[in-house]
Amino acid sequence: TDRYCVFGNPISHSKSPAIHAAFAAQTGEAIEYTAIAAPLDDFTGAWRRFTAEGGRGGNVTVPFKEEAFRLCDTPSQRARRAGAVNTLLLGKNGLTYGDTTDGIGLVRDLTRHGVNLAGARILVLGAGGAVRGVLEPLLAAGPASLLIANRTAEKAEALAADFGDLGTISGGGFGAVVGPFDLVINGTSASLAGDLPPLPDDLFAEGATAYDMMYGAELTVFLHWAAEHGARSIDGLGMLVEQAAESFFLWRNRRPETEPVLAELRRSL
Ligand code: ATR
Repeated sequence: TDRYCVFGNPISHSKSPAIHAAFAAQTGEAIEYTAIAAPLDDFTGAWRRFTAEGGRGGNVTVPFKEEAFRLCDTPSQRARRAGAVNTLLLGKNGLTYGDTTDGIGLVRDLTRHGVNLAGARILVLGAGGAVRGVLEPLLAAGPASLLIANRTAEKAEALAADFGDLGTISGGGFGAVVGPFDLVINGTSASLAGDLPPLPDDLFAEGATAYDMMYGAELTVFLHWAAEHGARSIDGLGMLVEQAAESFFLWRNRRPETEPVLAELRRSL
C-alpha cells in the first residue's frame, strides 16, 4: 500500500481523504490517503518527515501552497506560473516534483457542465492566490477576453500584466466592470464572510454562467445573486473533485471517473 496525504492547517474538514478513498476503491489502486495538519511554521519539515516514513505524494491546501512551490526540486511549468503547488510527488531519484491541478480542475468542471470557454467573455472576481492558480488553463481555453476585477485594483492589474503574454487579459477594480459576460467566476474569499462584491445588475449575457470556486450545503451569496440576475449557478464542488482526479492521475497514472464521486459528495454536504 502506497501512502499519500493532504497537508493543510486546519485540515480536519478536508474532503480529500474521502475523495481519494473513493478513487482508490473505483480503480483498485492500493493506496492509503490521510490528512495531516502541518505546523504553520514548518510545512517543509512535515513533507520531509512524511516522505522519510515512506510517503509517496501529497496534496497541499491552505496555507501551504506557496511554501510547497518553494520546496519543490522540479516544479511544473504551470506551477511556476501559479507560484503555487497543490500536488507533490516524490520521484524515484528522491527529488520532489510539484504541480498545480486547481486550474485544470476548474476548466474540466466547466467543460463537464457544457460551458463554452472558446470565444467567451470571462470576468474573474478576485486577485489572490486562488485566482493566480487558474488563469493559465482558463486563457489556454481561448476566451475572447478575460477581465480580472478585485477590491484592490492594483493586484488585478499586476496579475493581468503577469499573464498578458497568454491572451487578451486586463485588470481593474469592481468599478471598472462593464458587462455583459458569458462566464463570471468568483475567486474571492468574500463569500466566506457572506459579502457580495459590488457588481452591476446587467453583468450577465443571455445564457451566462456564474461559477463560485467555493461550495457549501447552501448557495453562496454570489451564486444566489447570480441566479436572481438570470445566470446559471455552479459551485466549486466539482472543481474540488476534478483537481483531485488530476492529482490521482499524476500519482497513479489512472484517471478515475469523477461523476459518481461528486454525486456522493454532494449528498453528504
Ligand atoms: P486566496 O488564496 O483564497 O486567493 P488571498 O490570496 O488572500 O486568498 O485572496 C483573497 C481574495 O479575496 C482577494 O482578491 C481579496 O481582495 P483584496 O485583494 O482586495 O484583499 C478578496 N476578498 C476577500 N474578502 C473580500 C471581501 N469581503 N470583499 C471583496 N473581496 C474580498
